[in-house]
Amino acid sequence: MAEFKIAVVVGSLRRDSFNRRLASALPALGPKDFVFKQLEIGDLPLYNQDDDAQPAASVARLKSEIAASQGVIFVTPEYNRSVPGVLKNAIDHASRPYGKSAWAGKPAGVIGVSVGAIGTSLAQQHLRNVLAYLDMPTLGQPEAFIQAKEGLFDASGALGAESAGFVQKWVDAYAAWVRRHA
Ligand code: FNR
Repeated sequence: MAEFKIAVVVGSLRRDSFNRRLASALPALGPKDFVFKQLEIGDLPLYNQDDDAQPAASVARLKSEIAASQGVIFVTPEYNRSVPGVLKNAIDHASRPYGKSAWAGKPAGVIGVSVGAIGTSLAQQHLRNVLAYLDMPTLGQPEAFIQAKEGLFDASGALGAESAGFVQKWVDAYAAWVRRHA
């Protein structure tokens, strides 16, 4: 039976998203006592503080899935040198109402793929700022800035051999980080 449930939040809604592909590759690299679940964020309404007292069903679902997890991995592209709005929207939803944030204390990991050479580094830097405020201990090393280029994924859509080795090291470090904060 899995001891650690990890919520995986993907910052892209694109059908053929590189980041979703990366997120989908994580379970195969995780330890046996870890399970990974991608959370749906595409059906969340735009955050409106007026709705805090009566959240939409999709918001309640997101918060309960985070609450049931022992850690959260954010797999995100970079949009205009920051995080995509859909991801920030999900983060804001689950952080409210004030004092009832679902994120607090959950050990976080940040990883992402972009077509640009800086591989989401600025988006990750912005995200780390948000996660610090949300009181999420966030893995610092290794950093994982991945550029989408030939060989990242193989013909079947799985991670290519070289990239799998790199992501495996990141997953190992994140798993150790979660155990440390359990
Ligand atoms: C981008 N892209 C991009 N890439 C980057 O390296 N830095 C950036 O600031 C941006 N900005 C940006 C803004 C917007 C609105 C879009 C749609 C795209 C390109 C981005 O890396 C590329 O579209 C990725 O494929 C997005 O990730 P997914 O959807 O494949 O997971």
